[in-house]
Amino acid sequence: MSKKTLVVLTGAGISAESGISTFRDSGGLWEQYSVEEVASIDGWYKNKPLVTDFYNQRRKQLLEVAPNYGHIGLAELEKDFDVRIVTQNIDNLHERAGSKNIIHLHGELTKVRSEKYEDLVYELQPSQYEVKMGDLCERGTQLRPYVVWFGEPVPMMSFAIEQAEKADIFVIIGTSLNVYPAAALVNYVHQNVPVYIIDPHEVKLNDKRWHYIKKGASEGVKELIQLLSEIE
Ligand code: APR
Repeated sequence: MSKKTLVVLTGAGISAESGISTFRDSGGLWEQYSVEEVASIDGWYKNKPLVTDFYNQRRKQLLEVAPNYGHIGLAELEKDFDVRIVTQNIDNLHERAGSKNIIHLHGELTKVRSEKYEDLVYELQPSQYEVKMGDLCERGTQLRPYVVWFGEPVPMMSFAIEQAEKADIFVIIGTSLNVYPAAALVNYVHQNVPVYIIDPHEVKLNDKRWHYIKKGASEGVKELIQLLSEIE
């Protein structure tokens, strides 16, 4: 029998236990930096060195963190399910946990692109966390983070919607569902498909039928695996 399709939307919360701070929790990234300054296309044009340094710092942190059981449990579920991860995160922890089917809606820290030719994308070496002003693409224009900033389109959204429409089970882990279009993904899940949401804090549940696991990612994914084994 073919495996059920399990689609998982993840956000910063799944990486919190790995030591990567979220954006909107107290002490989160957007309390330390202004979103406009470091995560918007206008911010890039205003101060490219500042933005370049912000992502260099976040890339450097990747060398010091590791996946937690939230990421690892999802990779393990690939034994029993056709798991498709749609993440808002730009870290590489899902990859490092062993997940094979990952869509990065907001880009990837480990890649850079030409600021002018968006199809010129380059994978950085694992230890290479620093990009500098003057680092140029093969056509001579400045390299910038391969990240979708506020004010830019989300090219992977249509592919993500195709996955949500195929879901037999939909899971939401560690996202405040504040940012669109990512937060709209659950609206493409068919009515009779069960939705599980893992988050230690109150989230604005859009639908009372959702199964709410009020735990952190590691413990929450353990409980999810248990629940899914019962409906197998
Ligand atoms: N385990 C699971 N969830 C957690 C944990 C944890 N240990 N700690 C916090 N959370 C939850 C919070 O309760 C919150 O609901 O993770 C969520 C984090 O929300 P945000 O900080 O808003 O992160 P996210 O939803 O991923 O932000 C979406 O906003 O700034 C942009 O591009 C950025 O991709 C990001 C997008």
